[in-house]
Amino acid sequence: MASVATDYTNKVVKTDEIAEFSDEVVEEMRSHLGKYPEGRQRSALIPLLFVIQRERGYLDNPGINFLAKFLDLEVTDVWETATFYSMFNLKKIGKHHIQVCKTLSCRIMGEPEITGHICDKLGIKPGETTEDEKFTVTRVECLGSCGTAPMLQVGFDYYEDLTIEKVDKMLDALD
Ligand code: FES
Repeated sequence: MASVATDYTNKVVKTDEIAEFSDEVVEEMRSHLGKYPEGRQRSALIPLLFVIQRERGYLDNPGINFLAKFLDLEVTDVWETATFYSMFNLKKIGKHHIQVCKTLSCRIMGEPEITGHICDKLGIKPGETTEDEKFTVTRVECLGSCGTAPMLQVGFDYYEDLTIEKVDKMLDALD
């Protein structure tokens, strides 16, 4: 695979380098693998991608190469999954990853104003990271909380029924 791209990534350049992980991390990966039947190792892709992302900060080529070898899959098979889901990062991100839902319900309930306010306050555009590497802002597809639009996600936390005031409080609370 020559390159992959999403709205918040740069080109990923192919490399043969393979990441190395501690024995504990490899054991953790084996335990995920053990939850699936023999011959169905592809089913473990998503939990294992989360482990790679946690360990390396994002999904880079050496990490993906490791996973392809670990699961006996083609590298392109792993990238197919890695590039499909917005919870996987294909480049280094800030300490706090603010993912603003841009899909219909959120959009009509004020997402553009929310995103604009956050970006103005942080001095960045969607898809960028602040210079101090504290915040990354991305606009993502529906996060499944349409009834509480507009909403966003930071890490594993949802912030819902957003107003400008709520966003300011949230940003102040993220250290
Ligand atoms: S449209 Fe925003 S959570 Fe579904």
